[in-house]
Amino acid sequence: MSRNLSLTLRIWRQESLKSAGNFHVYQLEDVSPDLSLLEALDQLNEQLIAKAERPVHFEHDCREGICGSCGFLVNGQAHGPQSATTVCQLYLRQFADGDTLTLEPWRARAFPLIQDLVVDRAAFDRLIAAGGYCSVNTGQAPDGNALLIGQQKAASAFAMATCIGCGACVASCRNASASLFVAAKLAHLAQLPQGQPEREHRAMLLQEQMREQGFGSCSSNLECEMVCPKQISADWISWMHREAKG
Ligand code: FES
Repeated sequence: MSRNLSLTLRIWRQESLKSAGNFHVYQLEDVSPDLSLLEALDQLNEQLIAKAERPVHFEHDCREGICGSCGFLVNGQAHGPQSATTVCQLYLRQFADGDTLTLEPWRARAFPLIQDLVVDRAAFDRLIAAGGYCSVNTGQAPDGNALLIGQQKAASAFAMATCIGCGACVASCRNASASLFVAAKLAHLAQLPQGQPEREHRAMLLQEQMREQGFGSCSSNLECEMVCPKQISADWISWMHREAKG
């Protein structure tokens, strides 16, 4: 059985976008390595609430790596040190007894801070609303196999659809670019027959909207694919640039 851990958490505390923020230091003693980092924050919050202090705000929903609502920097890395993992799936066993973990929110102009570790990622919703969908009338549900899609194409489109919109790609890019997110959304639809009628227009609309929402251009650093919990390849960004040229 692995030993329990003592950890120091340095957490960015900021009540609102307009207030000043700074790091607060908390000690977690004798915590199980089998706790997830979010469960450790739950424990910390119980202690803070018992002392009538403001709990640490962080976002979460599924805690299974599916919904994309969690996400912050752990020691400067989006979602922490384990690859292909969301922060809700990061367990304390990744750390050593006595470690200090610095937790801070995504830092990007397009993701304004709400509180502590929570940022507003509605800019992603506005990107999708600008054209990240199929608006053609598809009529009744067709018979199974009426629309044949090659296995490789289907698998590749599905891989793009696994993007959970967590924002790690933006937070890790020195230009705070949403290129990997947009490329995934475009590549998902462009590989399916239903996505063809609006394909070029969609690529143009989303790239325009990306600039309007305050995201930068691709920095070519490829940090986005390193931190993507769904391992979406940055090769799709090059594909997207060709796609937009028609
Ligand atoms: S809480 Fe849903 S992906 Fe982390």
